Amino acid sequence: MKIAIINGPNLNLLGKREPEVYGKISFEQYFETLKTAFPNVELTYFQSNVEGVLIDKLQELGFSYDGIIFNGGAYTHYSYAIRDAIAAIKTPVVEVHISNVYAREEFRHKSISGGNAVGVITGLGMKGYDLAVRFFLER
Ligand code: DQA
Repeated sequence: MKIAIINGPNLNLLGKREPEVYGKISFEQYFETLKTAFPNVELTYFQSNVEGVLIDKLQELGFSYDGIIFNGGAYTHYSYAIRDAIAAIKTPVVEVHISNVYAREEFRHKSISGGNAVGVITGLGMKGYDLAVRFFLER
């Protein structure tokens, strides 16, 4: 089972960025615990701050991976190009948000990319990534 985690803009700063919202650990640290928790899953992690690079990665992995866990950061709320990329690929995508987007500013209440995801997890912290892996395993 091959599962990729793709994180979008500013998520390279997890641990440093607004820790009261996103927590105190970096994604690299969290990724280590995730790999330990799922030794039989081939987990890949990729992050970019650039919309087109995220689309290139979705296209590259989206015809061979079993699942993609995608956090598009702020692109979530306005990127039709990412939404189209999720529709174009074969691999199912679970969208994850660390914070509860519905408890925050109004512009975060709408997910453009989420419309083409199989589901969306929001507000459960880093645990959302773990739950998304479990979803793919049990599917
Ligand atoms: C986020 C929520 C987005 O609104 C925000 O722009 C992010 C992170 C989250 O994981 O909670 O960058 O996707």
